[in-house]
Amino acid sequence: MNAPALLQVSAVSKRFGGLAALEDVSLSVGRGEIYGLIGPNGAGKTTLFNCMTGLYDLSAGHIHLEGVPLHGRKPHHIVEAGFARTFQNIRLFANMTALENVMVGRHPRTRAGVLGAVLRTPGARAEEAAIHNRARELMEYVGLKNKGRTLAGHLSYGDQRRLEIARALATEPRLLALDEPVAGMNPTERRQMSDLFLRLRAGGLTLLLIEHDVKLVMDLCDRVAVLDYGRKIAEGEPALVQRDPAVIAAYLGGDEA
Ligand SMILES: Nc1ncnc2c1ncn2[C@@H]1O[C@H](COP(=O)(O)OP(=O)(O)OP(=O)(O)O)[C@@H](O)[C@H]1O
Ligand SMILES: [Mg+2]
Repeated sequence: MNAPALLQVSAVSKRFGGLAALEDVSLSVGRGEIYGLIGPNGAGKTTLFNCMTGLYDLSAGHIHLEGVPLHGRKPHHIVEAGFARTFQNIRLFANMTALENVMVGRHPRTRAGVLGAVLRTPGARAEEAAIHNRARELMEYVGLKNKGRTLAGHLSYGDQRRLEIARALATEPRLLALDEPVAGMNPTERRQMSDLFLRLRAGGLTLLLIEHDVKLVMDLCDRVAVLDYGRKIAEGEPALVQRDPAVIAAYLGGDEA
């Protein structure tokens, strides 16, 4: 028998009143893959991330990470299970420093807990120092060395996106889901981000990537799935999917409307 996929999405539907945002979507992501999720605006990509990460209840279906059910779990349980994400609309603590934002990401993995941190027990202090060091390492890793003291809200847009990734990495995920991570970036920044994603994969992480930049998807992704009106209309190697008539029709249809 084959080992289970890292992430298995099985027949997931999500309805908002009369709108079927997702309809019977199944896909599986293997360990070490960079898996792209593409599709026209409103296709259901972010909704699928929200279903995977516990922000939305499923209307139907199941989601498993290494065989462990994620559906019905709270977002923090899903983070603890090893699934981290970033947001299409950046969600940082704007009035905290960049470094503090990353340190917050680390807290699901700490042992001393909130009480230890408040009471400043020796164990909690040692842990705090370790968190601080790891946060600095991650800042450097994503290209934000020397920006640790800057308030998150004062960082450039591209740097805020990098910071979101550092914060997600601080939770020590096995799977990282990125919702349009290079939106609004220039070509140089996009290349830097591609390099970052490849380094992350080389380090053993599996990546799930929502992205409208076709070139980036073609260059980076091992496989892509295409959503259109909440349904998966194609899946496979990027070069093949790009030529799929149903995919071409979906994108042209979007322009028409
Ligand atoms: N919380 C919600 N309540 C009601 N409708 C929602 C909600 N979230 C998403 N939708 C609807 O579900 C559909 C899919 O939206 P979603 O944000 O998942 O699309 P997307 O593929 O991420 O699009 P984009 O590329 O523009 O980010 C849209 O019609 C959207 O209006
Ligand atoms: Mg979206």
